[in-house]
Amino acid sequence: MPESSLKSSRDRRVLDLYDRVLEIEQRLIPTGLHVFGRAPGFREIRSLLRMVASFERTTAVSAGAGRETVKALTDLVAEGLGLFDYATLLKDSEVNEQRLQERERVESLVSEAVDLFVADRAFHRAAAHLQERANVTIEESQRVFEVLARVRTELEKSDELQSLCRALRGRYIEPGPGADIIQNPDVLPTGRNTHAVNPYTVPSTTAVKKAAPIVAALLERHRSETGRYPESMAMVLWGIDNIKTQGEAVAQALNLMGVRPRRDSLNRATDVDVIPIEDLGRPRIDVIMTVSGIFRDLFGATMALLDKAVRVVSALDEPDDLNFVAKHVRARMKDDGASLEDAAARVFSNAAGNYGANVNFMVLDSQWRESDELGDLFVTRKCFAYGRGGDSREARALLDRALSRVELTYQNIDSTEVGITDVDHYFEYLGGVSKAVEKRSGARPRVYLSDSTSPGAKVRTLEETIKLETRTKTLNPKWYEGMLSHGFSGVAEIEHHVTNTFGWSATADAVDKWIYDEVAQTFVLDEQMLARLCEMNPHAARAMVGRLLEASGRGLWSADESVLSKLRESFLGLEDRLEGVTA
Ligand code: BEZ
Ligand code: MG
Repeated sequence: MPESSLKSSRDRRVLDLYDRVLEIEQRLIPTGLHVFGRAPGFREIRSLLRMVASFERTTAVSAGAGRETVKALTDLVAEGLGLFDYATLLKDSEVNEQRLQERERVESLVSEAVDLFVADRAFHRAAAHLQERANVTIEESQRVFEVLARVRTELEKSDELQSLCRALRGRYIEPGPGADIIQNPDVLPTGRNTHAVNPYTVPSTTAVKKAAPIVAALLERHRSETGRYPESMAMVLWGIDNIKTQGEAVAQALNLMGVRPRRDSLNRATDVDVIPIEDLGRPRIDVIMTVSGIFRDLFGATMALLDKAVRVVSALDEPDDLNFVAKHVRARMKDDGASLEDAAARVFSNAAGNYGANVNFMVLDSQWRESDELGDLFVTRKCFAYGRGGDSREARALLDRALSRVELTYQNIDSTEVGITDVDHYFEYLGGVSKAVEKRSGARPRVYLSDSTSPGAKVRTLEETIKLETRTKTLNPKWYEGMLSHGFSGVAEIEHHVTNTFGWSATADAVDKWIYDEVAQTFVLDEQMLARLCEMNPHAARAMVGRLLEASGRGLWSADESVLSKLRESFLGLEDRLEGVTA
């Protein structure tokens, strides 16, 4: 290889590495559990406000004066410096060093300004700083700081305890929307009665707008790795997420099929409009929607909308290579004599009144022999097809068949607080469906997650997401020391992370050896750390060591023999301690 191309390939790798380090550094990392009734501290407020300032938002101007759009501080700074808009900087910084430097300049100016604002409890110095360094007018930045001031005031209130007492006395609790603070600061103050959304308004206009670039990034990612679009994919839809985002995942599903919601005179999304294929610029993707019981219960109208979208798209007179939905429906009807009802079933959930795929329980209780059992359980639980009238029918053969075509599985993450190793439900659903696809299609699907929490929505592979969460949480001293400051519950939280990581090995074989190696090193082989864990919560400590041994025993982690013998020794020591054999 000539020296110049060696150098440019080396530079590209360094840039890529740098971008990853930056991503880890900038991730908003929860430092400890929420303590009921306690308002966030100074550092937490500062990090949250930096994120709040990075999104454009529509907000009430002042009491009763209507709503206005307030630009993101990152965009104002980029504009003031005469740079590309921030979204472009984010995207291009992955491959272009100059854009990366410009992006960092924007981010550090925003951070400096927010720090000044938080320290002063007033906007004057912060706004002057931005005017002087980035030509942002005081008038424009002041509008952002007014939003931040309101968010800060609400963050500092804590009505949780009083509200709980009122609830226990059967008194009225003020309602409030449910969402992530960064996505919608109107959720503050906490301690209110979270109300859901009107399902007919889902997906909101904003959700539809935000869906297009995420879908484009998802399909581009798949295309860059395989050279073509996926014909069929399986997508997980959850209820609470779609409340929080007003239906971002729903909007993504519709966009994938190439339709958008049509609203009636009461602003209800009851029908769909087809996006012409020339405007779509790509084929319509066949989406199998596996839906949680909570979603089904909350979003009956949306289930019907999704089902309608499939029918409308499958009836379009378009060639097979531009409409994979129609292609598959037509083939099923022609080749197998299937009814339209069967051929077009794409919305699946539990039987009425049932919830969960339960794959998590099977993993937590170590109640599986072959990993295929995990995918089979997913299908057993989720094989109820939902159609127009909201009725469901058991349709195992249809789900088996639909999953046998799937090449890609996908879920949207919409909160900085809850990631795929924080709770067992992500591997229950996304892991479960991926495992089901693997057996039915004969190949492990590509598994992706999108992240609508950061500006410049990102699509990552499952493996990338696990590494990112491991680096930023499980193995990050800032995170685990934050947890350990809570004693018993903190140790349990660390153990949950290890177990949830194991869940991704069980369902998707997506965990690198180094992750288990370093978990063992950090929490078990470090004697001082193990002693702290045992002191605070010996049950969780034993469960964690047991899980590592299980990972090795099931062939999911090829641990070094010396590490294993230390783990076994620690496990026996913990058993003895819990059984009272030793002190
Ligand atoms: C839901 O919001 O639909 C959901 C929440 C937790 C686990 C599974 C589903
Ligand atoms: Mg749960």
